[in-house]
Amino acid sequence: MSAKLTSLLLISKDESFHTALGSALPQADYSVTSERSSVVGLNGSAARLASHHDIILFDWDQDDPASLSAAREMCDARAAGSMLIALAGQDLPLFKARQISRAGVDDVLPRDSLTDEIIPQIESWRLRQSAKLPAVWAGQATLGKVIAVAQARGGVGSSTLAVNLADVLQGDRGLLKRKVTNDVALVDLDFQFGSIAALVDVEESDAMWRMAMEGTVPDAAFIEQAIVKTSGGLSVLTAPSRFGPLNALTSKQIGAVLDELRKTHDYVVVDLPRALVEWIEPVLSRADKLLLATDVTVPSVRAARKLIDFYLLEHPGLSIEMVASHEKKPLVAASHHRAATELLQLPFSHWIPDDPKAAREALDRGKPLGEVAPRSRIARAIRGIGRATATTLAPRQAHH
Ligand SMILES: Nc1ncnc2c1ncn2[C@@H]1O[C@H](COP(=O)(O)OP(=O)(O)OP(=O)(O)O)[C@@H](O)[C@H]1O
Ligand SMILES: [Mg+2]
Repeated sequence: MSAKLTSLLLISKDESFHTALGSALPQADYSVTSERSSVVGLNGSAARLASHHDIILFDWDQDDPASLSAAREMCDARAAGSMLIALAGQDLPLFKARQISRAGVDDVLPRDSLTDEIIPQIESWRLRQSAKLPAVWAGQATLGKVIAVAQARGGVGSSTLAVNLADVLQGDRGLLKRKVTNDVALVDLDFQFGSIAALVDVEESDAMWRMAMEGTVPDAAFIEQAIVKTSGGLSVLTAPSRFGPLNALTSKQIGAVLDELRKTHDYVVVDLPRALVEWIEPVLSRADKLLLATDVTVPSVRAARKLIDFYLLEHPGLSIEMVASHEKKPLVAASHHRAATELLQLPFSHWIPDDPKAAREALDRGKPLGEVAPRSRIARAIRGIGRATATTLAPRQAHH
């Protein structure tokens, strides 16, 4: 293990917080720089300071727009793989939390949660880094991005979205020839009723079932033999063909699955189960984006709202994008769209039109829509989601 100290920068005017942090951190592992000022008070030098540290904690004044801009500048200047945490009051409204996470900070934590949240978060970052190979120390840029796909109700089209998003993320299809530019993995975490194998026409592998039953934590070799490749070159971790209890899987196992896949793939698309089991936590904590598919009906939108609250409670920095399924993007929002947006407190970022013919053809042939019906409305919509995703979440740097 590297003897490298983790450099931590704390920007806060609160003297007692500096003292408390200093005494709560294991001294031998950190070198702490204390700035007794605010990010705005540092007058432009916060970004330069942030670029030289592994972990940056800063007091965020949610009512001061300059504080948000300073946070954005720090995010732009940060070193690859560093972690930025904004400290806020307990009463931080959700939309404010989203605002700061969109600026690029990794997490926003309550100031008064030093021992139960802030320190564990810092320590888990340090331990993760020191467990990695030296080559990976350079940072997150060498790891693939995790995109989770969830559904507000069964059958809304989330697996279709996951499969075709994974396909689009591999790279553009030329007219004649496919150019695969990115390595993409697709993980079916719908452990009991997964349908991905059928959607991409591969055999189900029982690797996940064995992992669950034997209680093993997967390593690179396990993942390599568990992956099934589609004819299009997608790496798929299917749900098992055998039935297994949901609680047989653990967070540690799922975390390890994703960490291994992230090392060798640019994008890891995860089809989440409908059940809110404990082991979706490692997906949420690693997700660079979560797409939540719902139709725009009252019961589904209510279910979506509940899910959003559940996700954000533990992961306030999670970037959630709403996908309106079976709906064409309206030119003018109808009243039920407006009501839904109001209830969700989130706009619909994407719309996937109803297109039973294309969906059926893709299903019957076990092929991505881009191949069987590239000009269909549903293929075009998912292509748009894929391109938007690839623009905001870049593929691995070291790899390309
Ligand atoms: N945009 C669409 N238009 C019409 N039919 C669709 C669309 N998207 C998916 N379908 C069809 O709806 C059915 C369910 O789709 P899919 O399996 O993707 O949904 P799901 O949300 O993953 O369902 P489950 O709850 O079973 O996991 C499939 O038959 C699929 O072909
Ligand atoms: Mg599904």
